[in-house]
Amino acid sequence: MRTVHSIAELQQSLSSSSRVFVPTMGALHTGHAELMRVGKTIATDSGQLIVSIFVNPLQFGSTEDFSKYPRTGISDRDLAAGSGVDLMWLPSSDELLASDMLKLKSPEFGDSLEGVHRPGHFDGMLTAVNRLFEIVNPTHAIFGVKDLQQLILIREMALERFPDLEIIAVETVRDDFGLALSSRNKYLSASEIQIAAQINKALNVAALTADPAASFVTNLEKAGIEAGAIDYAEVISMPESCLDLGRQRLVVAVRIGLTRLLDNIALN
Ligand code: PAF
Repeated sequence: MRTVHSIAELQQSLSSSSRVFVPTMGALHTGHAELMRVGKTIATDSGQLIVSIFVNPLQFGSTEDFSKYPRTGISDRDLAAGSGVDLMWLPSSDELLASDMLKLKSPEFGDSLEGVHRPGHFDGMLTAVNRLFEIVNPTHAIFGVKDLQQLILIREMALERFPDLEIIAVETVRDDFGLALSSRNKYLSASEIQIAAQINKALNVAALTADPAASFVTNLEKAGIEAGAIDYAEVISMPESCLDLGRQRLVVAVRIGLTRLLDNIALN
């Protein structure tokens, strides 16, 4: 695996055939390894699997955890190298977030759900992802379904701005108790991890009912998580670009202690 920092170095190392890209903020875990595994199956023959690690300040609000966000450089490198990554890109903020870069504004959907609790988050996320795409010019880019709203917004943005780019969705990876893997799980104590595992259980029960959102709230309450800790539980209809993930999904955000956890499930 080759590690590069500057845009010039990156672009010199890019191959001309398929470039399969996994943008991340580091603190890599088994969920990221799954994105890389899927990426590797696409980047066959002369294709390249490229991973970027950049903790994007534009997508953190002023009260959020940017400076505290886990940074685990050496183990990130080991995980990427062990996953068959060809090129790891560690951009600098100064170079990536150039003052003259295009700043994107998320469509209205980005103001709902996460957007209510993290105003401006998706503008910052889309601005950085657009910039990463412009520089890497990937043929494929891979994102997890756990961050469903992010995935939908990126697919919609790519349709408009990078019509030849295929955005591949990879199902959520869970721990043995069903908790969706996330870099933010590092903030949870052992007892909070047990409580957080109730989220997936409640999603699975809710998905079988006529009113999944209400059922999810009731089931979490039964498991000892009060309704006030649920930032949202909503059924959303998937846009045409995401029908491979089902017609409707229940999306939720739950606060366990100081940590916000996201999850979602397909509804039949
Ligand atoms: O999901 C993430 O890790 C980030 O939001 C992303 C897509 C790398 C953009 O900074």
